[in-house]
Formats: sequence, structure tokens, C-alpha cells
Amino acid sequence: MQQLKEMMISDHFKEDVLDGLFKTPKKLSSKYFYDKTGDRLFQKIMEMPEYYLTKCELDIFKNKTSALANLIIPKNEPFDLIELGAGDASKSTFLLKHLVERNLDFTYMPIDISGNILNVLETNLSQKLPMLKMECLEGEYFEMLKKATSYSKRKKVVLFLGSNIGNMELEEAKDFCRSLKENLSAGDVVLIGFDLKKNPHTILNAYNDQQGITAEFNLNLLARINRELDADFDLKSFEHYQTYDPETGACRSFLVSLKHQQVKIDNELIFFGENELIDMEISQKFSQNNIRELAERSGFKIIGEISDSKNWFVDSAWKII
Ligand code: AVJ
Repeated sequence: MQQLKEMMISDHFKEDVLDGLFKTPKKLSSKYFYDKTGDRLFQKIMEMPEYYLTKCELDIFKNKTSALANLIIPKNEPFDLIELGAGDASKSTFLLKHLVERNLDFTYMPIDISGNILNVLETNLSQKLPMLKMECLEGEYFEMLKKATSYSKRKKVVLFLGSNIGNMELEEAKDFCRSLKENLSAGDVVLIGFDLKKNPHTILNAYNDQQGITAEFNLNLLARINRELDADFDLKSFEHYQTYDPETGACRSFLVSLKHQQVKIDNELIFFGENELIDMEISQKFSQNNIRELAERSGFKIIGEISDSKNWFVDSAWKII
């Protein structure tokens, strides 16, 4: 079963990689960053002094826990807490602990594309919070959300933290929020973490770190393609390049081909010109206005927002109207 699941996922992987690399401009999806090495590198990124995002959201979850809880579950009715892209749940653990201590009747349903990180999460949480009811769901967001909502008719609260929404272009984010709404019911709540626009140096530095961990994180996707799709990318022939546009709030990372070269993937040949780019990732930054607009356009009503002490990051709670 596990093998079958891996086969299905890697089939999508191959198709997506080849589609993206046959496009002009070339593109790979950052959702594939997170294999075992990618998970480890992202953990390292979160520990870097430059990468403020996790620290800010941790500040919210650690120090404003009851305000958060009151926002998403103002009455103490039974509910399901679904987390999209849960990762190691380092932030949500503070909320979970608070909800368990308040004796609320809820099941935590973390969803992640990385089965590896879900195993870590399950081991950690069952130790830290043995009373917590938990149901891990490994797979794509919406497939797993459908599964999660089919279990019961209880109120649903969906967490989408860490500025994961920033990995979508603005149009895609709007479609994503609309689909979220379509998969939920009146009264359900979503809590979305947004990284706010701020001094452009601060943002660029978070993705252009001195140690080159972000570069490694990007290059690891090429290594993963080599490993899993029998490809022959020469990692030394690609270089990470990061941009931030303070007007649009788009922070983008690219890999630059350092020479004219060809790469074999499975049985296909991909040609790269010198300085040709692969578009790897967007990490979109938002103004309060951008957030309001996104909520309105996708049919949600903002019911409250909690920011960190620096006002660099916000968790915005939306209700279905
Ligand atoms: C996990 C998507 C929030 O975009 O900031 C970190 C991933 N990429 N450094 C982000 C990431 C490069 C991160 N998210």
C-alpha cells in the first residue's frame, strides 16, 4: 500500500517536472522541495537568524494563544481542527496544548504531502499531548481536505499557517481560497498566516542567506530529480538567484544555468541556454489591503487578526459567509 502510494505520488512528480521544464520560461514547483533532505534543509532555514517568519508566527502562537483560540472557537462546541501543510506542527502545538487543557472536544487532522514529516509529528505529539485525538492525512491539500470533511458534520477550523499561501501567485491564491470555501460549510473558520510587506532588505535577506542554505534548498530539488527520476543534473552548473519586488510583494527564487547544457531526465533531453532560468518559488508578501481584498474576493469575512509584536506577520481568521 505504502509502495503504491509512493508510486502514485512520484508519477505526478515526473509528469509535473517534465511539463515544467518543457515550458518557456522553465518552471519547477516548490511543493516538491520537501523530500527528506528538503525537510531537513527547511528546518535549518527556520533556525537561521535571517528567516524571521517562523519566529514571528511562533511569537503569536506562544504568547497570544488564548486570543487565537477565542477567535477560532468562541463557543466551546465540538469541532475538527484541520491543518494544511502541518509540517512538524511546531507552532500549532501551542494552540493544541491550550485546547486540550481547556478540555475541548476536537480531533486534530494534520495534512502534509511529506509522509516523512507526518511521522515525526505523530511521534512528537503523541508524547507531548497523549490526550490529543489525532488523524494524520498524507497527500495533496484538497484530496485530504475532502477526506477530512467527510468524517463528521462538526464545525471545521482549517489552519493554513507559515505563509504557505505565499507559495502561490496572487490569482492562484484567490482560486485556492475559493476552493477552500467550496469544501467547507457556513460557520466554518479558516486561519491563514500571511507574511507582511516590510523593509525590502529584511525580506530579501531571509531568502538570500549568508550560509547559502536557501540555495541548497533550491538545488536539492534538482538532486531529488536526479535521485527519483534517473536524471543527471550537474548541481555545480546551476546557481541560486533571489529577487524581491517591494511594489508587488513578490519574492522569487530562480536557478540560473551557468552554461549551455543538456540534462537527461528519464528518457527525455532538456536543453538549457547559458543564464537560462528555472522559476523555482514565489514567496508572496502581503499588505493589510491585499489580505482584505483576497478575503472579499474569495467569499470570506475577516473575523479577526493577530500579529506578532513586531507587526511583521499576521494570522488572519476568516469565516464563511
Ligand atoms: C514554507 C513556503 C513559507 O516561502 O517562506 C523558505 C519556504 N523557501 N525559504 C517561504 C521557503 C525559502 C517558505 N514557506
